Parts: sequence; structure tokens; C-alpha cells
Amino acid sequence: MSTVFVNETQLSKIAVSKAHGEDSPYFAGWKAYEENPYDALNNPEGVIQMGLAENQLSFDVVEEYLKKNPEAFSWGSELCNFRENALFQDYHGLQTFRKAMANFMEKIRGGRAKFDPDRIVLTAGATAANELLTFILADPGDALLVPTPCYPGFLRDLQWRTGVKIFPVHCHSSNGFQLTLSSLEKAYKKAKDSNFKVKGLLITNPCNPLGTTASISLLQDIIHFISDKNIHLISDEIYSGSVFSTTNFACVSDLITNAVSEQIHIVYSLSKDLGLPGFRVGALYSYNDRVVKTARRMSSFSLVSSQTQKLLAFMLSDEEFTERYVKTNRERLRERYELVVGGMKEAGIGSLKGEAGLFCWVNMEDFMEEKSKEGELRLWKVIIEDFKLNVSPGSSCWCCEPGWFRVCFANMSRETLEVALKRLKDFGKRKKKNV
Ligand SMILES: Cc1ncc(COP(=O)(O)O)c(C=O)c1O
Repeated sequence: MSTVFVNETQLSKIAVSKAHGEDSPYFAGWKAYEENPYDALNNPEGVIQMGLAENQLSFDVVEEYLKKNPEAFSWGSELCNFRENALFQDYHGLQTFRKAMANFMEKIRGGRAKFDPDRIVLTAGATAANELLTFILADPGDALLVPTPCYPGFLRDLQWRTGVKIFPVHCHSSNGFQLTLSSLEKAYKKAKDSNFKVKGLLITNPCNPLGTTASISLLQDIIHFISDKNIHLISDEIYSGSVFSTTNFACVSDLITNAVSEQIHIVYSLSKDLGLPGFRVGALYSYNDRVVKTARRMSSFSLVSSQTQKLLAFMLSDEEFTERYVKTNRERLRERYELVVGGMKEAGIGSLKGEAGLFCWVNMEDFMEEKSKEGELRLWKVIIEDFKLNVSPGSSCWCCEPGWFRVCFANMSRETLEVALKRLKDFGKRKKKNV
């Protein structure tokens, strides 16, 4: 039988573009996990996934609510609302859900900020909201400033389909990777000198990918900066409810001043705070009427199903539930964080002090044979191949200093985490001997 060769189908430039960044070690690590996932009973030598910022710590609180309130997700024996839901496709979203979402966003910020349900545009997660805002605020060939280390998915979400270029604002360990005005000015100048029009700055607030929160004075400086340069500020507040620090924290949304409010846009999602990434529920909140109007029209491409909206409208309108959930979740995140940091310390691995989020940022510089990006990736391979732990190398988060890793701790049971900490301790012992 002869072999027939078929020419590879020609696809669009966007389809074949590498700009999505999915060949970075961040995604390669997920693949290694998927091929050999840890299971205490069936695969105890498998890879433990510590590269996924997922929150599974408070599922029992949600499950308890659903058991007690089956009407939140069932149509009832008479299928009362089935037809209404099956046909609902208004891109404004259910008014009851937008109201419940606004209340929840206020609650997790301790009532410091007010959200108008009519300014909420629903999207399929923060991923869609970030891309939607980029499409609205910038043209292909324009630039966005993004402080780094950052969420690895930003390459895909902000650059890939929009044609916009990210200019990293490099932050350094010397001040705990805090963003500074001088690093912002530097990145802004670099983009201008390369003939790019800077349209905005995107920050992850109140917690960056390092799990640390920004001070109020830094946020005020940032607002000053965008006002001075006349650019937009996108504040990705996906972690605004995952704060476990006892110190006070603030989000940009708490500090809105009328002078620049039209330049400020908030992104939110229930993926981290409620642990529901599979529900694909996000929101874009803008203080700019034209942005809200345009975003609503464009949201047709990434709507949230009416069934999901109905369930969440029910659940988030229940004050008793939201209060219990937020409190329990924060306590559990804190407990987890302390367990991980303590375990790391015993393994001889230092970490940055975290205040929020689902991960900690650890320094493995001393375990590297060579202090370079290549040295970091070699160490990452040892951790994943010999110790069966998938952690994310800093370079996949655009960290400019080799040797830092992001370690997620809320996506597994306590028992699995204890196995992971034991492996890290073994790693610490073996590497210390060899280096
Ligand atoms: C900072 C940040 N923004 C956006 C996302 C995407 O979230 P979603 O699942 O809501 O699309 C993530 C997920 O990890 C994230 O960390």
C-alpha cells in the first residue's frame, strides 16, 4: 500500500503564532503531571501538581450549602424555570446575578468599595475579561506594561489574539519584588523608545503572583503614574478574597478617585476566591461608560450560561453563606500557608513572606549549580523528574532573577501536601550534599 502525503493545511497567522506561550515550562510541567498524576492508592510515585493555583480548601462549605438548598441548581419536579433559562441569552446577564456578584465583591473587600451592578459585564472567567479589555483599550502594535514576575497566562490572554505587546516592568528581590515608580518609568521609556504607544498598565492586585500585597501608598503612586501618562489601569483583582494576612490590605477599587476613574478598570473572577474555575465566571467592572457599553457588546463571545448565573445568584445572595465561606476560606488558606512555609524552612528553602493567594514564592538559588535561566530550568527538571513535584520556575513568570519558584498549596488534600513536603525535604537533603 502506498503512503499518501497530504500538504499541511494553511492556517491563519494567529492560529500558528507562538505568542500564546504554551510551550513554556509552566505548561510543560502540567503535561508531566497529566502523564503521571500522583494518587495515594493507585500511583503513589506519581507527580504532585504544585503548579496550579486552584483553591480546593473550602469545597465542603459550598457542598453543604448545595445540599441544604437544592432549589439553587434544580428545576424542581414541575421543571418550573427550565424554559425561561433555556432561552435566556441576553448579554446583560441576569440582573439578580449581577447584583449578587456586586454584593460579593463588596463583602470580600470588607465593605470599603461600592460596586454598581449596572457596571458589571459578565465574562467567561478573568481570562476573557483581560483579553476583552485589551481589545477595547489597545490596537494591534500598541503596548501594555505588566509588572513581573506575573501570571504566565498573561502572554496568551493579553498578546496572542490582540496583537498587543507586553513590556515587562521588572521587579527585584532586593525589595521583595515590590513594584516601584522608577521601574515603571523605565519600562514606559523602553516601550516609547521602541516606538510603541503605551495604552495601559495591568497589575494583579491586591496580591501579585508572589502572594504579597501592595501598600496603599504604592497603589496611590500607581494611580498618579497612570494619570500623569494618561494611560489606563487594569487591576486584576482575582485574589481579592484570598487574603489571609492579618494586616490591612487595599485594592485599587478601594481607592478610586473621580479624577482618573475613567481610566480604571477592574477584573474579577470566582475562579480563586470561590474555587470555581470550571464554572467560568468572571467580571469586568469599569468606571468608564463607553468601556462598559463596548464590553457588553463584545461579551457575546464569552457569556456565562444562564444555568450557572441562576445557581450563583442564589448562592451569593445568601449573606450567611458568603460570610461563613469568606471567613473559613481565609482561615484555611492561612493554615496551609504556614504549613508550607514551615515545611520549606525544614527543607532549608527560604520563601518570601506571603499575605494572600494560593501559592508561595520560594528561593532555590542555593541549590543551583549555575545562576542562570538554564541553571534554573535544569533544577526544575530535577525537581519534577527525581522528586516528582511540579513547581513553576520563575522564568515562566518572567522573573528576571534566576532561582525563584512558585509553589501552589491549595489545590490538594492535606495528606497529599504532607507527601509533597516530605519530597521537598528529601530534595533539600540531597541537593545540599551535592552542591
Ligand atoms: C492573575 C490571574 N488572572 C487571570 C487568571 C485566569 O483566571 P480565570 O480562571 O478566571 O480565567 C488567573 C488564573 O490563574 C490569574 O492568576
